[in-house]
Amino acid sequence: MMRVFVTGATGYIGSAVVSELINGGHTVIGLSRSDKGAAELKKAGAEVHHGSLDDLDSLRSGAANADGVIHLAFIHDFSNFAHSLATDLLAIKTIGEVLEGSGKPFITTAHANGAASDNEVLALAKRGVRTAIVSLAPSVHGAGDKGFVPELIKIAREKGVSAYIGDGSNRWPAIHRLDAAQLYRLALEKAPAGSQLDGVGDEGVPFRSIASVIGQFLNVPVESISHEEANDHFGFLGTIAALDIPRSSEATQKLLGWQPIHLGLIDDLEQGHYFSS
Ligand SMILES: NC(=O)c1ccc[n+]([C@@H]2O[C@H](COP(=O)([O-])OP(=O)(O)OC[C@H]3O[C@@H](n4cnc5c(N)ncnc54)[C@H](OP(=O)(O)O)[C@@H]3O)[C@@H](O)[C@H]2O)c1
Repeated sequence: MMRVFVTGATGYIGSAVVSELINGGHTVIGLSRSDKGAAELKKAGAEVHHGSLDDLDSLRSGAANADGVIHLAFIHDFSNFAHSLATDLLAIKTIGEVLEGSGKPFITTAHANGAASDNEVLALAKRGVRTAIVSLAPSVHGAGDKGFVPELIKIAREKGVSAYIGDGSNRWPAIHRLDAAQLYRLALEKAPAGSQLDGVGDEGVPFRSIASVIGQFLNVPVESISHEEANDHFGFLGTIAALDIPRSSEATQKLLGWQPIHLGLIDDLEQGHYFSS
């Protein structure tokens, strides 16, 4: 059993990872930058390490006192994404320096345009750190989701239409938050150094199916729009809503003996909890 330093431990995915680790017999030391976060961590049964991504000494001491690190903290400020990525890279370098030569596990989270962070993590694998990068599906769904799907619901409510682009056959991969949490625990316990892991449960959900459930629950029409209309309708999600990005986690499942067991995205939406507010 390990003492695991978790950054982002207070977040949507991090809090599920904390519970998964504790239920698996590990001790969690969660990074928190607020009293509220610290109280949540204590309630979940974790120890609290006060600090932040901007306080590199707090990252050094957190990593130094742990048997392994899971890095999930990220500044979700899309108006200054370059700063978010630079902060992520610096955090990874700082933690990596502490872990070099130790053979300890260091599990990180991939981001769009985050190649510099991923390259650093892969290089650390050659310097005696048992690194693994988890590449999560763009939709990590479940109770408390604040990502793309709630945004689609908000847009459909505002516009009075649940739209898809073209024939809506373009596919989005997805993963349940609790399956993602188990993947992080298994990666910590047994991923070989330099692993690149696919955090995907549903390999590709047709966008039209997502739009249909949203339309059904909001009681608004489900309609096709053209690519030209997408940005006007979906705003910043226009490009993302058009993507066809099926992904498979078969190799990751085989490597770690991991199997996503929780509801898929459509079944989760059909539970209705996304529409209660
Ligand atoms: N949710 C998704 O659908 C999804 C999909 C793909 C990838 N991801 C990635 O998965 C990871 C976790 O996502 P999430 O949904 O759990 O995010 P989240 O709910 O927004 O949580 C972000 C975490 O980062 C912490 N954090 C933010 N800025 C920080 C700072 N300056 N110093 C220290 N901690 C800071 C937050 O702490 P506070 O509690 O103090 O704010 C929180 O614990 C992120 O890397 C995210 O980009 C998420």
